[in-house]
Amino acid sequence: MMSLVLGRAALPGAQSSGRRDAEALVTLRDVHLSYGDAAVLRGIDLSVRRNEAVSIIGPSGSGKSTILRCINGLITPERGEVRVNGVDVARLTRDDEKIALRKRIGFVFQQYNLFPHLTALQNLTIAPMRVLGTSRAEAEHTAHALLVKVRLADKAHAYPGELSGGQQQRVAIARALAMKPELILFDEVTSALDPQTVGEVLNVIGELVDEGLTCVLVTHEMRFAEDISDRVAYTEGGVIVEEGSPEQIFHAPRDERTRHFLESTQSRARRTRASLKLASIPS
Ligand SMILES: Nc1ncnc2c1ncn2[C@@H]1O[C@H](COP(=O)(O)OP(=O)(O)O)[C@@H](O)[C@H]1O
Ligand SMILES: [Mg+2]
Repeated sequence: MMSLVLGRAALPGAQSSGRRDAEALVTLRDVHLSYGDAAVLRGIDLSVRRNEAVSIIGPSGSGKSTILRCINGLITPERGEVRVNGVDVARLTRDDEKIALRKRIGFVFQQYNLFPHLTALQNLTIAPMRVLGTSRAEAEHTAHALLVKVRLADKAHAYPGELSGGQQQRVAIARALAMKPELILFDEVTSALDPQTVGEVLNVIGELVDEGLTCVLVTHEMRFAEDISDRVAYTEGGVIVEEGSPEQIFHAPRDERTRHFLESTQSRARRTRASLKLASIPS
């Protein structure tokens, strides 16, 4: 059987060692970045070990997406160091080196951006065939297995326009996996979805994490972050205010700013639930 599952068992040394003592795959040290006069990242330190799921939470504009874009080399910090698997991302100058890095890092966004003229299956096979040189037979074999994994086995020949937002986002996740990345960055992947389809996408990500997928997730789904993360970082104003286990961050936050943010998201979630209930009462 092929090892497209990014499962723990598929990774060397991952069976005996738990998630926690694995080596660091991503390291950010004192990363600073500004846009014009605006300091967006003001000294970010973060590390992600293999097989670890790290969530980044925090208010809008706090620098979460910018952190992800530094990790995959889309932007270069002015100061500090970003290492992925030992390679200093900020020092990559040649385009071919940057492309090689991005092949190994999957990125799933809020907007899934599937090719509208290609079927789900073709969306999954095009990059492995064109970029990795995988044969069509192997790429299709892998793609079918991935569609099973994201529970879309029956949608292989559907076009994106025939799929719900949640289904399209699951195709986008499978498409990222089809490149067999070492790491996947998820940036608010459920923010644009109808509430009914959020759960199916979170379930798929949760299963991948259980299997040992290494990932960094930016999310507003606090219960989800608490359930699936090995560690959680709370960002505000371009710094990581605190970082810890999900239990600690969500139940015993040390910093006043974290506490305040969590209280505000809880009251917002309560209001949303209340309005959904009202909307479901027949008039
Ligand atoms: N390309 C850009 N040019 C100028 N400012 C930007 C750019 N991208 C992000 N910013 C600013 O950087 C800050 C952090 O953005 P971002 O990382 O997207 O935050 P988050 O993902 O936490 O909402 C915001 O104030 C945003 O307006
Ligand atoms: Mg963002």
